[in-house]
Amino acid sequence: MFKGFPLFPESASTVAAGVDSLYFYLVAVAVFFSVLIFSLIFYFAVKYRRRREGEIPPLVHGNVRLEILWSVVPFALSMIMFGWGAKLYFDVSTPPPDPLAISVVAKQWMWKIQHPGGQREINELHVPVGQPVELTMVSEDVIHSFYVPAFRVKKDVLPGRFSRLWFEATKVGTYHLFCAEYCGTKHSAMIGSVVVLEPKDYQDWLAGGPPAESPVAAGARHFEELGCKTCHLSGAAQRGPSLEGIYGKTVVLEGGAVMTVDDDYVRESILTPAAKIVASYRPLMPTFKGQVSEERLLELLAYVKSLTPVAPRAGGRR
Ligand code: CUA
Repeated sequence: MFKGFPLFPESASTVAAGVDSLYFYLVAVAVFFSVLIFSLIFYFAVKYRRRREGEIPPLVHGNVRLEILWSVVPFALSMIMFGWGAKLYFDVSTPPPDPLAISVVAKQWMWKIQHPGGQREINELHVPVGQPVELTMVSEDVIHSFYVPAFRVKKDVLPGRFSRLWFEATKVGTYHLFCAEYCGTKHSAMIGSVVVLEPKDYQDWLAGGPPAESPVAAGARHFEELGCKTCHLSGAAQRGPSLEGIYGKTVVLEGGAVMTVDDDYVRESILTPAAKIVASYRPLMPTFKGQVSEERLLELLAYVKSLTPVAPRAGGRR
């Protein structure tokens, strides 16, 4: 629908048609009632105009049927908006199983993207067509918002917390990527493109760049360099919890609270170690706040995840 219409974005993802249908329903309801109300204003103004000096119209005492009608109809129409909108919201926010995981770090004023194999790009995102892609996004500074109109997806990218967004492109092509949250002087220049390729071309594109270090390998390197392994590897010197096999599992904290080890938990444990101490351990770990960039954090996270053989999809991530 509206193909080639200049003011309407292209429709290039699995959720686009659903988002458009709801949008058109909202527009249709608004247009119908605007036209109805304005027509009635004119009609009544003419019909009930004062015909002679001193005319007193008959008193109206209400009409129960009419009142029920104008209560029930708007109620039904707004409940359709609510039900339909909620269903669509859950569809759009629940990724299908096993999406292609790509990480995005936003900063004033660019998008830094890393593919699972370690390939990096800036202000461009290459993805294969017909495959669900999930972005794990975080900001280095202020709030940004990742917006691809052709996919009908938009999500804020926050400092200090991961946010996630998924889509499945349905059409090969190049689409606009915008920052949709005012983030400073060059907010309007924080734009880029999403290039949707045939799966084979995507593989060629991945292989075409300079050799890349995988996030897991880079994470292992940081783990070594930052000295994490002195306390966190099992052995005689172990002073912190061993990280092997913990991703997706639950841990019991000091005080009895139970936490699932997920991305946010690992991130917090690196930056603010004292926030949640696993029971029977002491708060010895220094903070790494200011020492690790968001990109290195994502790599450390990839490494910690890799220590758990088959990373289960942790609950409560969103
Ligand atoms: Cu980033 Cu606006």
